[in-house]
Amino acid sequence: MAIWNSIAIFATVAGAFVDAAALQPRHDHYGLVESGKLRGLLTTEALREKAEILQDFAYSSPGKNRLIGSQGHQDTIDYIHDQMTAFPDYYTIELQPLDLALGVEANLTANNRTVEVYAVTLAPGGHVSGPLVSIPNLGCEAADFPESLNGSIALIFRGTCESGIKVGLAASRGAIGVLIYNNVDGNLEGYSLQKFEDPEAPYVPTGGISQSAGEALVAQLEAGTEVIVDLTTVAEASTSYNVIAQTKAGDQDNVIHIGGHSDSVAAGPGINDNGSGTISILEIAIQLTKFTVKNAVRFSWWTAEEEGLLGATYYVSQLSQSEKDKIRLFLDFDMMASPNYAFQIYDGDGSAFNLTGPPGSAEAEAEFTHYFSNIAGLNHTEIEFDGRSDYGPFLEAGIAAGGIAGGAEGIKTEEEQAMFGGAAGIPYDVNYHQDGDTTNNLNYECWIEMTRAIAHMTATYARSFESLPPRNTTSARKRSARFANFRKTKRYQKWV
Ligand code: BES
Ligand code: ZN
Repeated sequence: MAIWNSIAIFATVAGAFVDAAALQPRHDHYGLVESGKLRGLLTTEALREKAEILQDFAYSSPGKNRLIGSQGHQDTIDYIHDQMTAFPDYYTIELQPLDLALGVEANLTANNRTVEVYAVTLAPGGHVSGPLVSIPNLGCEAADFPESLNGSIALIFRGTCESGIKVGLAASRGAIGVLIYNNVDGNLEGYSLQKFEDPEAPYVPTGGISQSAGEALVAQLEAGTEVIVDLTTVAEASTSYNVIAQTKAGDQDNVIHIGGHSDSVAAGPGINDNGSGTISILEIAIQLTKFTVKNAVRFSWWTAEEEGLLGATYYVSQLSQSEKDKIRLFLDFDMMASPNYAFQIYDGDGSAFNLTGPPGSAEAEAEFTHYFSNIAGLNHTEIEFDGRSDYGPFLEAGIAAGGIAGGAEGIKTEEEQAMFGGAAGIPYDVNYHQDGDTTNNLNYECWIEMTRAIAHMTATYARSFESLPPRNTTSARKRSARFANFRKTKRYQKWV
């Protein structure tokens, strides 16, 4: 305390040119990080304040959201970066750029009648005109497509595989454009092909239309009417960033990696999804600076998760095998404050959903379970390790992973109501991907408990990896081969 006080007094006397970091206690003030001490520094108020800041970014932005490419998202990235650069002695901070073609504008006519359309992100801009051809099935297999689509526009139903697969296949048969029609009510604004372009199968201009508009076009074609469509899409080259910060202290070859996505969907400010995880890990990163660590701690805020886990996918794609091997465990935090929450732990050992993560994932699940059961004294449940968030690319790369969530559109059961309170028969988060995902609709008890659980995991692995299996790259690589097919599983396909 004495050192901290004298720095603070000196700083005050010295005047205005003192940054926030200089007022922080020395980073070894509390000694080696301990779960209880780190948790003791967390407050609901600090979380709430930061949530209001992110919501202000959204509401000051033209689309009232923090969608990739928006001012609201860029402000979020800048804010995280500014907060972290207050600790230049403690963290090495990197902004990793990711270039994306954002769909910004589109026009569509079918036989000269205007149809509501949105340009799809990751597809190129352009003006194409030609006969419409409806693709049977879902367009996920080459066999779904006619031999030649030369000069035509393909009409394909959304779902079962990433739309990027459909567009790549259509283009390889000669289609000059694609219309994807929705598989749920509503338009396809802010939709993405969800998969980086394969240079072997380049994308073509793609518009997203509603299910009813798509079905009406299919009906016309089935009635034998020729439909000539004219599609114009505008794609804007945009650069977004993953923010990555790593402790300078600690064994740099043995890293505990903590992440969450910084972007929202188009519909709203995205405060539970995922302002909550963004802020939980930011607050822990700030509080961690008061301690020393034995293992390096890396924090990442991923961009473009909502467009298909793009930021995390890109990050993992840029790692050499030896860099991958240094990540002993990746933990993902997405949806930490669901209003009708359950404390859900990813099923890393496959005991509940039969999809087992790479070695180390089971141990991570066990540590979360131990924390909730024995330290916090809280009920908990398991959820599928299904690749709905940024841990997916880590699983595919054979890196141990884990995480917790409060829940999205899933319906709370009677049993869960008894365990967690709230209301059975309604979703964990009724505002999931809606404009109501705001600071008023968070559950703050859930959020602080989740944040404490993250702090426990961070502190535990920053001290030691002895509870994880030794790094075994051979078996990890075998797992990786298994997870290469992960995106083809039914579990993943639900979400594309
Ligand atoms: N936050 C969700 C995923 C999620 C749901 C995490 C429930 C934890 C509990 C994420 O932002 C999301 O919306 N993911 C997409 C899939 C992704 C591949 C674009 C989804 O689930 O539809
Ligand atoms: Zn989401």
